[in-house]
Amino acid sequence: MSGLYARDAVSVAGLQKLRFFPQAVVGGKGAVLRADDGRALIDLSATWGAASLGYGHPALVAAVSAAVADPAGASVLSAANSQATALAERLIALFPSEQPQRVWLGHSGSDANETAIRAVRRATGRQGIIGFAGAYHGCTLGTMAVSGHPTLASDKAAGLIQLPYPGADPHGPDAGGILALLERNLAEAGPDTIAACIFEPILSDGGLVVPPTGFLAGLDALCRQHGILTICDEVKVGLGRTGRMHAFEHEGFRPDILVLGKGLGGGLPLSAVIGPQWVMDCATSFAMQTLHGNPVCAAAGLAVLDTIVAESLPEEAARKGETLMAGLNDLALRHPCIRAIRGRGLAIGVEIRGAETTLLSDAAATAGLMFRAHERGLVVYCVGPSSNVLELTPPLTITDHDIGQALSLLDDVILDLEAGRIDETAPAEFTGW
Ligand SMILES: Cc1ncc(COP(=O)(O)O)c(C=O)c1O
Repeated sequence: MSGLYARDAVSVAGLQKLRFFPQAVVGGKGAVLRADDGRALIDLSATWGAASLGYGHPALVAAVSAAVADPAGASVLSAANSQATALAERLIALFPSEQPQRVWLGHSGSDANETAIRAVRRATGRQGIIGFAGAYHGCTLGTMAVSGHPTLASDKAAGLIQLPYPGADPHGPDAGGILALLERNLAEAGPDTIAACIFEPILSDGGLVVPPTGFLAGLDALCRQHGILTICDEVKVGLGRTGRMHAFEHEGFRPDILVLGKGLGGGLPLSAVIGPQWVMDCATSFAMQTLHGNPVCAAAGLAVLDTIVAESLPEEAARKGETLMAGLNDLALRHPCIRAIRGRGLAIGVEIRGAETTLLSDAAATAGLMFRAHERGLVVYCVGPSSNVLELTPPLTITDHDIGQALSLLDDVILDLEAGRIDETAPAEFTGW
């Protein structure tokens, strides 16, 4: 364990830690982080998708440096500021609608989803929410109450209808069965008690599950029929990651409300809710925190959006995703511990099986792989209710060379696992989730 990691252990609260191995970093460039012992780590997570442009992208550095050197105040609460206004205008243009739209700016996926839920309730006068098992919408009381991820097992919101996500449980109902279940639930609850349905276009922390074609469009149509708003939580997979600007564009529908976070700030705290004016202007001084809409983070958001367009990052994500997927499929031919590979663009899940090739459970094999990967210079984390899906969400700017290196390291790491070269006890002290 490095000196930095040991200092962190006795100073930073465990409450906010989700650790899989003793990673301690001091800098980064592109898709590569620099550890405090000088090692280079290829980051296949992009810090859970936040570093969409990679680390130290010149456009982000320039925009943030300029905004911090001549700041237009520090918030949008009591003054318009040039960067926040420009960002809101850009986001509206990126999510066009015939109805007037407004943008709310926040710091995190959690505060954005919390605001979306509170706003739809206030605007419609309805309290009920439809959500999904396995869904991760945030770590605040309000978002935990509508999430279905096991880590967020808090009290659920009154009137919550929680549906299975199609494909997440091989023994669960299929897409048609889930929509039929929703119709029964709505008939029971009274559809006019339900304000909105919140969903992820790919169930991410719930196991990187891509819904079957037509499911989300069917869900949207059913909600629309009952005057229920749809909230698409693209915090993790939005803004180019799936190969399109918005992940819902793969599905042939347009949600009422779009939630963005993580990659929008490129590593700075920034999130957004974009929705119809009648919802977003339904109250004032209702969902605000002092630094919301601050010009430095808004400038970062503008730089991210500019770069996504200038560097054709959605198209790049589609192309690089194919390369990564092809390499992983090749690994799967040689390594039976890879049970399944799924995803879209640069949002890819690799489901790991333990017992067939090792004596380990699925989760223990995955923990061992992550731990060994870090030792060999690769950062990859896991998701899923059984903690056995490696989540690959690298920076959209990752180079083809780094993708090749990462695949080769993954191959070595799996060989280590199969040959019993991973110390089983070491990962056990990192609880993960
Ligand atoms: C789909 C989704 N929504 C919301 C969140 C919460 O975002 P944050 O951790 O920035 O609050 C996450 C975080 O993983 C997420 O994956």
